Amino acid sequence: MYVLDRIIINGQQRLNGSVFVNGAKNAAVAIIPAALSARGICVIENLPCIEDVNILANAIRSCGIKAEFRDPHTLIIDSRNLTDYKLTFDLARNMRASYYLLGAFLGRFKKAIVPLPGGCNFGIRPVNLHIKGFEKLGATIEQEHGMIYAYADRLVGDHIFLDVASVGATINIMLAAVHAEGVTTIENAAKEPHVVDTANFLNILGAKIKGAGTDNIKITGVQELSGGTYTIIPDQIEAGTYMIAAAITGGDVTVKNIIPRHLDSLSAKLREMGCRIEEGGDYVRVVGASELNSVNVKTMVYPGFPTDLQPQMTALLSTANGTSVVTETVFDNRFQYVTEIIRLGCRVNTQTAQIGIVEGPSKITGAEVSATDLRAGAALVVAGLAAEGETVISNVKYIDRGYEDIENKLRGLGANIKRVNEQGEIVNRAPARDRIFDDTETLGHSIDEVAATLEAPNVVISA
Ligand code: EPZ
Repeated sequence: MYVLDRIIINGQQRLNGSVFVNGAKNAAVAIIPAALSARGICVIENLPCIEDVNILANAIRSCGIKAEFRDPHTLIIDSRNLTDYKLTFDLARNMRASYYLLGAFLGRFKKAIVPLPGGCNFGIRPVNLHIKGFEKLGATIEQEHGMIYAYADRLVGDHIFLDVASVGATINIMLAAVHAEGVTTIENAAKEPHVVDTANFLNILGAKIKGAGTDNIKITGVQELSGGTYTIIPDQIEAGTYMIAAAITGGDVTVKNIIPRHLDSLSAKLREMGCRIEEGGDYVRVVGASELNSVNVKTMVYPGFPTDLQPQMTALLSTANGTSVVTETVFDNRFQYVTEIIRLGCRVNTQTAQIGIVEGPSKITGAEVSATDLRAGAALVVAGLAAEGETVISNVKYIDRGYEDIENKLRGLGANIKRVNEQGEIVNRAPARDRIFDDTETLGHSIDEVAATLEAPNVVISA
């Protein structure tokens, strides 16, 4: 990770052309830990080449298993000899999704020791629902020294009601329940596409999960999961970010390799604002308008408007005619980024931690700004594309956590955008992994044979 890189944008270029979306970050960071539920070899394809996947690959290597990238988007995981159920890898602390190893280890080993996940700057982000679910299955959970200790003599299926349709709790409980005795039902389950993707992956490995994508998931426990090959879904948040970038520049962009229905809520809002939206089997075309209408946006759990597109949408609404009300219902305070987009001229009044009043159209002008989290960073990029003059975005490490090759993708659409290092030199951080397993000599061989030649696990700390 290149923490001192900055992204520089000279805005007001209309974006035109096509952009290809990579695999979904929030599916990747659930499915990689889920592979450790299986005693087998998993090949996970269409992984995005982003920092969170690099960190997670190093985290599972630190547990003593073989995990190698066959190419930047394909990871081979051999967890047949996994015996460790403790995650001590420091970098994992900074990554919320490392908590999925709790469910995976608890399910497979009936024991787990995992760092308590950090919060982030839009709320406390507790894990009480995860713990409540594990305890319902018969586990004992203790916390001390910033670690969560979980253990169970037996895991027995039960009925679990989630007070909040939590994505993380739904997936984590599923990871434990796949090995529980009998049937577990999760009521008020999250329905996000990455929840469905994780359930589909686990079923490929031999799990028996029904109802993922509805608010009632039924899991019938099995003794053991085997390996398998799986291609993860495209990233609907990356796709939505490029759709909003097209709208804010009045451009004409086709976002490819997506599942259009995953973006229905955004497409409806962009149409309401005056954009033209065309949908095909695996693409959405966004044609911006010279004048945009203000609209009200309320974030909801899927299939409602996604909270992960709220910052980017707020930037777009700053250029619309009139007043828009943005209501954040998923997190208790996801407007921290507003202090930064105000520097670019956006007029957003956060009356409460849940409501932002956006006045438009505002004159967006370039400035020096800093990303405060992943989607806040995306909002700064989106606003910078519309700004008159130069916008310099620091802390792009947050953006690299969730967007593969963002500056090259936007440059391919006609944006005047570059990345510079600490010395101000233009750099090209094309997608890369800290190491790529060279299996040319085993091409065409079985995955077992390929896995047998994987290097012994050693942890490479991401740059
Ligand atoms: C996932 O976070 C995503 N992260 C987030 O994306 C996304 O914003 C969020 O789901 C909502 O869609 C990953 O998938 C890695 P939640 P998660 O549990 O699972 C409360 C991004 O930018 N809650 O659905 O942590 C919680 O405080 C990231 O890609 C509890 O109260 O979200 C929040 O208010 C940001 N107790 C609400 O539920 C719990 O035990 C939704 O959180 C768990 C959650």
